[in-house]
Amino acid sequence: MNKTVENTDPLSSLVYDLRSDLDATSNTILEQANSTLAPRIGDVSAHLFKAGGKRIRPILTLAAATALGYRGELHVQAAAAVEFIHMATLLHDDVIDESDQRRKRPTANLLWDNRSSILVGDFLLARALQLLVELGSGKVLEALSAAAVSIAEGEILQLSTARSLQVDETTYRKIIEGKTSALFAAAAESGGAVGGADSEQLSALREFGHALGISFQIVDDVLDYGGDSVSLGKNVGDDFRDCKVTLPVIKAVSMADEAESRFWRRVIEIGEQRLGDLEHAQELLLKHGSIESAKQEAVRWSTIAQASLEKLPDHPIRGKLADLSRFVTERAS
Ligand code: IPE
Ligand code: IPE
Ligand code: MG
Ligand code: MG
Repeated sequence: MNKTVENTDPLSSLVYDLRSDLDATSNTILEQANSTLAPRIGDVSAHLFKAGGKRIRPILTLAAATALGYRGELHVQAAAAVEFIHMATLLHDDVIDESDQRRKRPTANLLWDNRSSILVGDFLLARALQLLVELGSGKVLEALSAAAVSIAEGEILQLSTARSLQVDETTYRKIIEGKTSALFAAAAESGGAVGGADSEQLSALREFGHALGISFQIVDDVLDYGGDSVSLGKNVGDDFRDCKVTLPVIKAVSMADEAESRFWRRVIEIGEQRLGDLEHAQELLLKHGSIESAKQEAVRWSTIAQASLEKLPDHPIRGKLADLSRFVTERAS
C-alpha cells in the first residue's frame, strides 16, 4: 500500500494522519454498539458501521482536537459519540425515506425491518449520551445533545414541507442546517472543547462545521439528481421519489414556464410520478442551470468554512481541513 499521502484526496489524507485515533474510535464504536441482552443491536450496528462511510464527522472532532495540540484520549470518545448520533440518524432516515441502499449495502430496514432500524437508532442515540456523560465535558454534552435535537427538527421540517412547491431557499436552508449542518458544527466544536479551545476558537470551529455542513448537504442534494449510485453507495433519485424539494428543484421551479410548472406540480405536489419523469426533471435542472447554481452555492459555503479556520492556530491539520472543505464540493461519493 502507498504509505505516502501524495495524490490522495484531502479526506484520505486526514484519514491517514488521524489513523490511530480513528482506529481507536472504531474500536469504541464496535465495543459500545453491542448488547448481550439483545444481540440484534450489535448485528444491525455492525452491518452499518462495517460497510464503511466517509467518517467525516468523527474526523472533524479528532482533527479539531489535534489542530489544538491535544494529546489525550477523550477526543476519541467524543468522536465515537458523534458517529453514533450520525448512525442513528441514518438508520432512522432510511426508514423515513424508504431507502434500500446505504454505504453500498442493502439498508437495515430492508435486511431486517423498519422496527429494528428505529429501535437500534434509539439505542445508538442513548449510547451516545452515555458516552458523553462519561466523558464529563459539559460543553461537549451541550453541543452534541443540541445537535441531536436539531437533526430531529430538520428531518421533521423536511417531512412536513415535502410535496410543497412553496418551499423556498430560506426554508431549505433551515432544513439542512437542522438535519446536517448542526452535527457538523457540534462535531468540530466538541473536538475543540476537548482540546482546550478558547471561546473564539470554539466559535470558529462551530462556524467552520456549520458552513461545511451546509455545503456538504447541498452537494448531497445535487448528487441525488446527477450522481452515480455505484460510487455514492446509495440510490440516486430518492429525493425526487420522496417529493423532497431540494435546492436544485427550488431553483428550477423558480424558472419554470407554464408546462414545466404543471410538471412540477404533478410530480412533487400531487406525487404522481411516471416512468421517465426523473429523467425529465434532470433535463429541466440542466436546462435552467440549477445544478450548476446549486454547486456554486455549495462552493460559496465552502469558502466561508475555509475563512473561519483562520482563527485557529497554524497547524498542518488546519490546512487539511481547508482542503477538505474544497473537496466536499467536488466529491462524487
Ligand atoms: C449522509 O451522510 C447523510 C447526509 C447528511 C447527506 P454521509 O454522506 O456523511 O454518509 P456516510 O457516513 O459517508 O455514509
Ligand atoms: C440527510 O438527508 C439525512 C440526515 C442527516 C438525517 P438525506 O436523506 O438527503 O440523506 P441521504 O441522502 O439519505 O444520505
Ligand atoms: Mg435519506
Ligand atoms: Mg440525500
